[in-house]
Amino acid sequence: MQIKFKLAVIGVAMAAVTAFFVVTKSEITGFAQTETANEMPGVIMLAQDAKLGSVRFDHVSHNSGKYSIAGGPIACIECHHVAQPAEEAAKHPPLRTAWPADRTTTLTLELYKQDALKAGVAACRSCHAQSGQTPKLLPEIPEIKHQSSTAMIKLNNQQAFHRNCAGCHVEANKENPDLKAPTATQCTVCHKRQ
Ligand code: HEC
Ligand code: HEC
Ligand code: HEC
Ligand code: HEC
Repeated sequence: MQIKFKLAVIGVAMAAVTAFFVVTKSEITGFAQTETANEMPGVIMLAQDAKLGSVRFDHVSHNSGKYSIAGGPIACIECHHVAQPAEEAAKHPPLRTAWPADRTTTLTLELYKQDALKAGVAACRSCHAQSGQTPKLLPEIPEIKHQSSTAMIKLNNQQAFHRNCAGCHVEANKENPDLKAPTATQCTVCHKRQ
């Protein structure tokens, strides 16, 4: 309880600090990072340029253990799937890519707190770019094969986020009907115009 509360407070404070004093902008990861920023962001506003409106994502609730799936806390790599060694990712097909490609570590809160840069967190859009854009970290927007046909799915930002976010929400609500995680068709539970 104590720790969660502290994290939330630090998260909000950090978000404010980051907004006002962006010291360096990392060209590699696409993230704005301050020199000492190794507290995690609390709330992240996603989809800022979506016509339907931006999406308020509570990063801390999603990774502090408050929200859980199958009875356990949500692991960082449920979302940051490239932040693990390639051979670990490959145990969960279609995943197989690691970033950096030769990484030997798996992202955890502890790892991040020890050394934020070494923990290697890359922005989703640096690979899952918006349609028509070239991603920063890959030659092109990744594709995976459709589950039940030979069609390929281009994982632009919209596809990648919807699959990651709404995919887990469907599973989570199924497991625990008391949860209110917004599913794919509940557009405006996530997207809100300011
Ligand atoms: C439910 C999904 C999810 C989980 C779980 C999650 N994150 Fe994130 N995280 C995100 C998203 C989405 C972003 C924003 C990415 C973007 O803008 O491309 C983000 C951003 C970040 C950032 C970027 C901060 C900056 O400087 O802008 C860091 C660092 C980070 N996460 C670390 C972690 C760590 C460590 C864990 C595990 C303790 C974790 N995340 C768990 C989804 C998640
Ligand atoms: C370094 C590049 C890179 C980054 C960063 C990245 N991805 Fe991916 N993502 C890929 C690639 C490549 C694939 C295709 C599978 C593979 O090669 O691992 C993929 C696949 C996926 C899939 C499909 C998996 C499935 O089971 O259907 C989802 C969903 C996804 N990414 C979401 C995200 C989210 C959300 C983030 C940010 C938290 C993110 N990705 C960050 C490169 C990346
Ligand atoms: C691995 C599972 C998982 C992933 C991935 C995930 N969520 Fe969630 N999310 C949950 C659970 C569980 C809840 C329900 C919490 C409750 O009802 O107590 C939730 C609730 C929410 C809510 C409603 C409550 C709140 O926190 O505002 C929003 C909005 C939300 N998630 C957005 C997102 C977005 C955006 C992403 C992708 C970047 C995402 N989630 C990824 C598990 C997940
Ligand atoms: C679980 C939360 C959630 C739900 C539900 C959801 N979205 Fe999204 N949507 C997101 C996130 C997160 C992004 C990508 C954020 C980013 O790239 O910063 C996104 C991206 C998009 C984009 C791409 C915007 C752009 O220009 O890059 C469109 C269009 C979109 N959503 C439409 C919809 C529609 C239509 C629905 C309902 C059928 C829907 N979304 C349901 C969270 C959600």
